[in-house]
Amino acid sequence: MRWTYCIIWFLYVSICESGPLPDPGPVMYGEVQSPQYPGPYPPNLQEQWDLSVPEGFQIRLTFTHLDIEASAGCHYDSLTVLYNGKVLGKFCGQENSADGHHPGNQNILSPGNRLTLVLQTDDGNPERHQNIGFSAQYQAIDIDECSAPEPRSGSGPLCSQICLNTLGSYLCSCYHGYELRQDQRTCVLSCVGGIFDEPEGHLSSPGYPNPPPHAVDCQYVISVESGFIISLNFTENFQIESLDTEEGLSCPYHWLQVAISGREPRKLCGEKSPGLMVTNSNKVTLDYHIDTKGQSNGWSLDYSTERVKCPSPGSVPQGRVTPVLAEYFYRDYVFVRCDQGYKLMMNGYEIDSFSAMCQSNGQWHLPLPECHIIDCGEPEPLLNGGLTFLSGFQNQYRSVVQYHCNEPFYSTLSGDNVSLTCDADRKWRAINDVTLLPTCIPVCGQPTNLLSSYQRIIGGSDAPEGAIPWQTLLTVDGNRGGGMVIADRWVMTAAHVLVNNGVEVATGIIEVDSSRLSTTRVASIHIHPGYNKLDKLQYDNDIALIKLQDRLTFNSSVMPICLPPDGATYTPSIAGLSSGFGITTDREGKQLITNRLQYVRLPVVTQQNCRNSINALKRTNNQVPSLTDNMFCAGVPEGGKDSCQGDSGSAFALRDDGKFWAAGIVSWGVDCGVPGRYGVYTKVINYVDWIRNTMQEN
Ligand SMILES: *[C@@H]1O[C@H](CO)[C@@H](O)[C@H](O)[C@H]1NC(C)=O
Ligand SMILES: *[C@@H]1O[C@H](CO)[C@@H](O)[C@H](O)[C@H]1NC(C)=O
Ligand SMILES: *[C@@H]1O[C@H](CO)[C@@H](O)[C@H](O)[C@H]1NC(C)=O
Repeated sequence: MRWTYCIIWFLYVSICESGPLPDPGPVMYGEVQSPQYPGPYPPNLQEQWDLSVPEGFQIRLTFTHLDIEASAGCHYDSLTVLYNGKVLGKFCGQENSADGHHPGNQNILSPGNRLTLVLQTDDGNPERHQNIGFSAQYQAIDIDECSAPEPRSGSGPLCSQICLNTLGSYLCSCYHGYELRQDQRTCVLSCVGGIFDEPEGHLSSPGYPNPPPHAVDCQYVISVESGFIISLNFTENFQIESLDTEEGLSCPYHWLQVAISGREPRKLCGEKSPGLMVTNSNKVTLDYHIDTKGQSNGWSLDYSTERVKCPSPGSVPQGRVTPVLAEYFYRDYVFVRCDQGYKLMMNGYEIDSFSAMCQSNGQWHLPLPECHIIDCGEPEPLLNGGLTFLSGFQNQYRSVVQYHCNEPFYSTLSGDNVSLTCDADRKWRAINDVTLLPTCIPVCGQPTNLLSSYQRIIGGSDAPEGAIPWQTLLTVDGNRGGGMVIADRWVMTAAHVLVNNGVEVATGIIEVDSSRLSTTRVASIHIHPGYNKLDKLQYDNDIALIKLQDRLTFNSSVMPICLPPDGATYTPSIAGLSSGFGITTDREGKQLITNRLQYVRLPVVTQQNCRNSINALKRTNNQVPSLTDNMFCAGVPEGGKDSCQGDSGSAFALRDDGKFWAAGIVSWGVDCGVPGRYGVYTKVINYVDWIRNTMQEN
């Protein structure tokens, strides 16, 4: 309860001087005397004194002496005391005299803070006793406004409840439970309204549980931090005057209005307690209104607050939302973690971690992310091999891939299968943690198109596609030669083919016409150091290797021939396969240059027969080269089948264990297909070490 002071003023104290002076302002006391006092006052006088003291005080006038010519009704000389024009007394005479009207030792009290004194005298009468006038003191007297009678105007008592007299004024106050109105005098029941911002509290109507005596307009605002919602719990004892209408209860004169922002305000009345009201708002305004008639005993409630609730955050497939709570409130957090092998994704981007807070508006500040399966990316590719998924797909977590070589042209060295599993840390892992890739090594000497062994061959035949895939066409300075692929970057040929510079190498063809499409670039040429290119009759060590700039990828058209296996033999009369793009004969026996790859089966000839044949030739021809142990012969004694010019460098292939191996290189001969003569081939088995070393070192 506040005390309110109604009137405030400043006190001015000044020394009083008699005589009319310009209004010196209120003083607290003073003295007034007739002119020339204590000498006799002059005649024909009309003198006035306006006394004033501060507002809220009265003036008490005390005569110390009064001696004015006495007359009946103070007709001639008089001192008149007035308040607001109203005569409080008209004095003359002397103390104890029978004439006149003397105030005696009575004080005069002005009803207000002003007092007017008027001294009036007539013509002087020299014979008369000289009257000396008056002397009076006045002082401000506090008014006890509180004990003043109630004004007749009917405006009610000065203070409706408690009046407190103060020096020069008064102030009103109210009993407990009431408060002073704006008028500073009347009291109304205190709403004890205002703003309630504590998380819980108690409110009741003024005077509850008693009816308030008169009209009430109280406002209560419950306002708490956002993120909290207010619940009102009305007690059983509830009574607000209502009207029963056809539409139900109506509250035309008395009501308790509950207003929540964003919603229609609701007026409560009647006899039934609303009980618990969950407002879902952090601000509620209650307006209690009672007019001057009727009776409402009022209401009482406890309010409480709880944090705003957010909806259950839901779940994330392949993830975990923590913590799991029955309900989620403002400022609660949830976290999402994905199961092993899954990653957090939001708006199409991967995120490291996720948390969302329940906001004051009851919404999560972020929607839940998704858990996407991780992937390990493409596994390292395998040269001449590939991958198959044993389980899973798209390189996803827990996918298992297995490397394989591109069969039948490549195979793994060990034959072991390497399989990798996509791990939770997004790496491909082998079972034993060794992620060494397998090596795909070329398969040699096993053409996909195997020539029928039952085929009878007379002369040469057109080679079908893919039957002799190691066959290489060399073009050196416009001349044709042959070669064979022995590794993905190596072609083997005869040394004498490469006496001139500028070799062109074409692989994987069966027709010369198409050679341009298959030309591969040469990196280096390695002629056997024992080959003597200056001596035209020297064909010993007629072997050379060509290194290609780019690796060949093997397929049914291009495949290497095997090098001689350990312990390989050149068993006489075993047929080998000789092939080439060299000179062939037509039906009439005319020699012509072939466009199509030719092949012929020729048996290995004993070294003795070979030597005999050559020695016989040497007797008639001194241009015949010598046979060495690095050479062997193949052919038929009756002639007609042979390798010939242009085939030089091509392979003479023998087949063991289903694999063709390079037994010989077409080297030289005297004429072609003549009876009693054989073709001479470089005996490759004598050069295996040189071949391997050369390939390794280059
Ligand atoms: C409401 O108040 C009553 C007592 O007046 C109490 O029994 C009840 O538990 C309260 N309800 C709530 C929800 O606080
Ligand atoms: C390698 O895998 C292939 C097929 O993927 C299968 O046929 C073969 O048996 C496997 N080899 C080994 C040694 O597991
Ligand atoms: C074999 O590979 C070569 C070069 O890569 C290519 O030109 C040729 O067409 C392939 N042949 C077949 C039958 O795939």
